[in-house]
Amino acid sequence: MKVQRGYHHFKGNRLSRSEYIQRLVTRALLKSRVPDNKRDSSIIWELKHSSSVVQIARILALKRGLKVEYAEIIAALHDIGVIKTGKYQEHARRGMKIAKSILRKTGRFTDKEIALITNAIGSHSDKHIYSDEPYTELIKDADVFDCSLYEGVDQEYIRTKTPEKLKEYFRRLRRVRKELGLPGKKLYEQYR
Ligand SMILES: [Fe+2]
Ligand SMILES: [Fe+2]
Repeated sequence: MKVQRGYHHFKGNRLSRSEYIQRLVTRALLKSRVPDNKRDSSIIWELKHSSSVVQIARILALKRGLKVEYAEIIAALHDIGVIKTGKYQEHARRGMKIAKSILRKTGRFTDKEIALITNAIGSHSDKHIYSDEPYTELIKDADVFDCSLYEGVDQEYIRTKTPEKLKEYFRRLRRVRKELGLPGKKLYEQYR
């Protein structure tokens, strides 16, 4: 008799490649030995942000006709450099190396896939730069858009970014909001 099995809810061993990576990232946070007082942000923030960036990346991938699976994996791993060490300094480049080793260890990704995923992770902090790599642009957009949905983050950008970078951040946010059919924000118009 065929056993009916419903959604796995991330239990057991029926996870897809992407789900496996998402669980691994979540577990890394839940079991992290780096406490909040040694982190630039908190474990709670990293949990919330990594999950919500995955969802936004899915939506953008669907909109752009890109592979949702790659978008999810890149999004889940994009801040692995911070997740493991707690520090934002150079986390994209550091995360690239960590992601490479994680993906290799699974034995479920080709070298070409690993390169595509880790290149996007390695460049995700360069939000002021536009590349012609669709997954790199997708993760930059998903990341900055997710952050902008948290109250106070726009103001944090204003406080911490150079005027040139700030302009590009807000340009990205204007574009993503438009792409998703969301109303614009007055604040972003002030920094054209
Ligand atoms: Fe990041
Ligand atoms: Fe991020």
